[in-house]
Amino acid sequence: MSYANSRIPSSAQAGVHEHLARAVERHAAAPFRKPYATYNEHAVERALEGWDGRAPLILDAGCGVAHSTIQIARANPDARVIGVDQSEDRLSRRKPYPEALLPGKMLLVRADLVDFWRLLVDRGIRLHAHYILYPNPWPKIGHLGRRWHAHPVFPFVPRLGGRLEMRTNWQVYGEEFALALGLLTGRSVSCESYEAETPLTPFERKYRDSGQALYRVSLDLGDVRLDGPAEAVHASAGIQRESQR
Ligand SMILES: C[S@@+](CC[C@H](N)C(=O)[O-])C[C@H]1O[C@@H](n2cnc3c(N)ncnc32)[C@H](O)[C@@H]1O
Repeated sequence: MSYANSRIPSSAQAGVHEHLARAVERHAAAPFRKPYATYNEHAVERALEGWDGRAPLILDAGCGVAHSTIQIARANPDARVIGVDQSEDRLSRRKPYPEALLPGKMLLVRADLVDFWRLLVDRGIRLHAHYILYPNPWPKIGHLGRRWHAHPVFPFVPRLGGRLEMRTNWQVYGEEFALALGLLTGRSVSCESYEAETPLTPFERKYRDSGQALYRVSLDLGDVRLDGPAEAVHASAGIQRESQR
């Protein structure tokens, strides 16, 4: 695939998956107890090592080559900015800045987000901001369960609080993500068109330069506490049970 010639995900699925709401409710009602891999526990320890508990924490989840993590850290010099990806190869690719100019409070760690997110929740961590930029879309109808919002880990994501931002070039993914987040939080969440004037990631730059429409779901979760997975069952039934910290 040549640059600026990228295609939007093609799928037989034209709208929100008919089984999405049921999957989100099921995952919210049943605790996800997959055991943690040791390397993910170490990754969380390393990500939080030396953090004073007061500096804002920003997570770039699935950061890929981490160009976004660098930009976010440069824009937030007081924050601990953590870029997480499962691919060591992507994390270690050459950066657009020399090592010496990389922001000091930025950390890149290799981890599986399925564990990393839950380990942060276990520790009572609250994020200042949380980016999920251009996650793998898994556009096949039968791959619904691989999309983040239909995965059993998703109820943990809003429990981390902060301003959550997900961007995608597949509108269906954006609409599904918004619906799932709305079910979990009891909030009204929408998927909106997005103009990437200054692209944050290589994917964003490529999609923009290919003339594609981009979408984002942005929600300020603030300090709202979602006390547990079962919360979503009530939220999906239209009963809002959020409590302020
Ligand atoms: C399409 S790429 C987008 C990368 C980057 N955010 C960007 O926009 O350039 C999706 C990234 O998510 C990462 N990823 C997928 N599943 C993951 C998981 N379970 N844990 C950590 N990273 C994951 C992949 O390795 C990949 O780098």
